Amino acid sequence: MRQVGIVVAMVLLVSGALYAFAGQGAETLVLPMEGKYGDVGLPHWTHQENLTDCTACHGLFPQETGAIDRLKAEKVLKKKQVMNNCRRCHRSLAKAGKASGPIKCMDCHTAG
Ligand code: HEC
Ligand code: HEC
Ligand code: HEC
Repeated sequence: MRQVGIVVAMVLLVSGALYAFAGQGAETLVLPMEGKYGDVGLPHWTHQENLTDCTACHGLFPQETGAIDRLKAEKVLKKKQVMNNCRRCHRSLAKAGKASGPIKCMDCHTAG
């Protein structure tokens, strides 16, 4: 019984933390992209609500506008490293038959 209580308390704690977290930064983001593929749109808040933690993306870069470009320029992040993280998650959720996001190039990049 005591263990069940602890689990319930932990679930409440985690969902409370999520509730407090969601809705930070811009609601939607457009990541500007040079070259022929074009900008990438990201429904930021939708991801915050759907994913269990910010580190799903921010494990690679801080919660800061322009962080990806800065870290790519500093060669801390490789080209397409963030992108591959996006696609990897979408692909594995799609494989598992769950709600997911784009995998094809031009479903993320807007330039025609
Ligand atoms: C699906 C990926 C993803 C997730 C999950 C995510 N973020 Fe972000 N976040 C981004 C991207 C991309 C940027 C913009 C980085 C850049 O401009 O280089 C960003 C930027 C931000 C910024 C800077 C202000 C802004 O809007 O540009 C804040 C603050 C932020 N995120 C907070 C959070 C918090 C808090 C969470 C978790 C509750 C979270 N993010 C989850 C991708 C994500
Ligand atoms: C889930 C969304 C998504 C999909 C699908 C996607 N991309 Fe990207 N792409 C991004 C994001 C976000 C960035 C910027 C961050 C980075 O470079 O990792 C990016 C960056 C790029 C860059 C610039 C890399 C650089 O720094 O020079 C190229 C080129 C690119 N993508 C091509 C492609 C091609 C080709 C495909 C299909 C095979 C593709 N993308 C599919 C989101 C996506
Ligand atoms: C850890 C998993 C995960 C990561 C990482 C992730 N996504 Fe997603 N993405 C999702 C899920 C889940 C959905 C489906 C949300 C829904 O339909 O409710 C989604 C949906 C989307 C959509 C479609 C939204 C719509 O309205 O149809 C776009 C665009 C997208 N993601 C872009 C990105 C980009 C760009 C990145 C990287 C910067 C990224 N995602 C990283 C899980 C992820």
